[in-house]
Order: sequence, then C-alpha cells, then structure tokens
Amino acid sequence: MKLLVINGPNLNMLGIREPGIYGSETYASLVQMISEYCEQKGIEVEFFQSNHEGSIVDRIQEAYGVFDGIVINPAAYTHTSVAILDALKAVSIPAVEVHISAVNEREDFRQISYAGKACVKTYMGLGFNGYIEAIKFLEDYLQKKQ
Ligand code: DQA
Repeated sequence: MKLLVINGPNLNMLGIREPGIYGSETYASLVQMISEYCEQKGIEVEFFQSNHEGSIVDRIQEAYGVFDGIVINPAAYTHTSVAILDALKAVSIPAVEVHISAVNEREDFRQISYAGKACVKTYMGLGFNGYIEAIKFLEDYLQKKQ
C-alpha cells in the first residue's frame, strides 16, 4: 500500500499554534509517529504540507495512478475549498479526512466540510491518533476492495 498524507495550512505550526486546541506536539513529531506506524505495517508513506490551496490541488492531481490511498487534513480549506473537493473526486483515490480537533463542537463556520464529501470516512477530535485510525481504516478498506 502506497499512502499520501496531506496537511493543509497552519499545520506546520503545530506545537506553537493554539496548543489548547491542537496540543503541544509538532508537525515533525506527527510525521515521525505516522512514519513509525507505517514502517511497522510495511506501508510506503509520503507526506505533503502546504499553506497554499493550489499546491494541495496540484499534489492531489500528481497522486493519480501513484498512490493507493490519501489521508488528508485540509485544515481551514476544509470549510472553503471546492477545488480540493473536485481534485479528490477527479483522481478518485480512496481518501480519509482527519481533523485533530473536534470540529463538530466548534464554530458554525467549521461545520461544513467540502473535502469530506469526497472522503470515505472522517476522524475528528482524536488528536494525532486520528491519522493512525485513518490509516487503519484505509488498510481495511483497500484490502476489502481487492
Ligand atoms: C483542523 C480544524 C480546522 O477547522 C482548522 O482550520 C485547522 C485544523 C483540525 O485538524 O482540527 O486548521 O483541520
């Protein structure tokens, strides 16, 4: 299984940004945690983080025919980006949406997820563990699809 993990804007600031909401662990430690899990499971994983919507769209398009699954936390673009939704639909690679915080318990403007409409599953409010749950889900989902 070849997996792409995409993180959107401001997630490079993990550990600094609003630690009461997102915790005190950094983006580098998130990458390390996921890498260790994937190594144990024999999953090939690549990471992409960008603060730019078009760069995320480009990365999703480039994933076509290369990756078996995508784990994506589009961050603020979750609630605004039809372009990311369309890119996920265009490549039709099974994707799982992750949010570190419990977005369903937050502001009204966070209650819509465009990207989520192209995802087979969403995990929220589990902290970094949501990414691992997303990978586990994809392992199972892709195995059943074969
Ligand atoms: C987030 C939730 C979004 O609403 C927010 O804009 C983020 C992070 C999360 O992981 O909880 O940047 O996606």
